[in-house]
Amino acid sequence: MKRELAEVVLIDAVRTPFGRAGEKGIFWKTRAEDLCVPLMKALMDRNAGLTPRMVEDSVWGVTNQVKEQGGTIGRMIPMLADWGWEVPGCSIDRMCAGGLTAVGFCVSYIASGMADCLIAGGVEHMGHLPMGFMRDPHPRAVAVMGGETALNMGQTAENIHERFPEFTREMADAYAVACQQKAARAINAGRMADMIVPIEIEGGGGRKQWIAADQHPRPGTTMAALAGLKTHFREEGGRVTAGNASGLNDGACAVLLMSRAKARELGLKPRMRWVASAVAAVEPTLMGTAPVPATRKALAKAGLTMADMDIIEINEAFAVQALYCLDRLGVAGDDPRVNIWGGALAYGHPLAASGPRLLAFMSGLFRETPQARYGLATMCVGRGQGYSMIWESINES
Ligand SMILES: CC(C)(COP(=O)(O)OP(=O)(O)OC[C@H]1O[C@@H](n2cnc3c(N)ncnc32)[C@H](O)[C@@H]1OP(=O)(O)O)[C@@H](O)C(=O)NCCC(=O)NCCS
Repeated sequence: MKRELAEVVLIDAVRTPFGRAGEKGIFWKTRAEDLCVPLMKALMDRNAGLTPRMVEDSVWGVTNQVKEQGGTIGRMIPMLADWGWEVPGCSIDRMCAGGLTAVGFCVSYIASGMADCLIAGGVEHMGHLPMGFMRDPHPRAVAVMGGETALNMGQTAENIHERFPEFTREMADAYAVACQQKAARAINAGRMADMIVPIEIEGGGGRKQWIAADQHPRPGTTMAALAGLKTHFREEGGRVTAGNASGLNDGACAVLLMSRAKARELGLKPRMRWVASAVAAVEPTLMGTAPVPATRKALAKAGLTMADMDIIEINEAFAVQALYCLDRLGVAGDDPRVNIWGGALAYGHPLAASGPRLLAFMSGLFRETPQARYGLATMCVGRGQGYSMIWESINES
């Protein structure tokens, strides 16, 4: 039987504010599932005609699948949203690209005709489940991956500085300052308002409080302040600091995906159409470089070039790896298409939540810039992987 691929569209994207991990974080007393459930409800409320029974799967990326994030959180979230037990769900892990991989699975699902309406998300509560928590790598893993530094993301960033010394700490710091400035401008202009779903938390003295703003951005960041920060990942000669690295964060993001036919049937306006995706792998000790081959592969599949990309959303795990990747893709670090509303250096990087966050930003930017046609979302992944996706704006009036 011959089958046509269905066109896959993104209808909506919502996220929680991103908090800092740890006791001073806004979500210290909030469970990971309780970051996801309000997003499911918001997608339902915001999209008239959509009902929980239409959602054919709830696919969530999450890195540390233990404790509150274990037990197939993707399945638990629809039930916790009071949708009954009829909506299936699963959890996916590709570390930082877990959420983007969840979107990718949903794209294939819809394109193949296996489903018409899906929710894909990503969540990470790095305060409750820190990076590497309860992990037990195979004893041979270090050798296979090329050395100890492959297991520590900050050290992989130091490796890029060392291997490619043309990317200096000063450049990384300048990129981070610019990122903070872009984020501050976007936040002040209200650009986050449409995508952020306020979350109720237990504040001081047990009082309930609604949180609607990201906790991580540092709008006043200066080069002088960054120059004074200590390096975390090398005893001597290190260049990676808290200022030019993404943070440790808690947050979730979810997107509503449909076949274009289903969107039409429900009268929902799609924001963008999936074009191409690719994953690629590199030496694990240089994991931050992997967006380069992943992007080249995705562009080749799409028959497009970087010059066609009007919006470039690159996840800034570290300033140096973003700078390296942009350079190798022929794009300057200060190119006006790059992370227009700022990136993970400012907002933080709750691992699996970050991929869908890139798509939330892209779809918001498409709305703001009707002349933009193509957008690229790309990110690096621990253990040496990259994931890139290309989408096309849809301006249906
Ligand atoms: C780099 C890292 C270790 C820093 O952690 P941390 O020490 O808890 O970070 P903090 O936010 O407390 O910042 C450390 C200091 O830098 C300061 N700082 C951070 N960003 C700053 C900025 N933009 N401007 C000025 N000061 C800044 C903080 O105020 C703090 O100062 P203090 O020690 O005087 O309080 C941590 O963020 C990290 O591991 N990041 C990488 C995460 C990662 O690997 N993710 C996966 C990617 S693949």
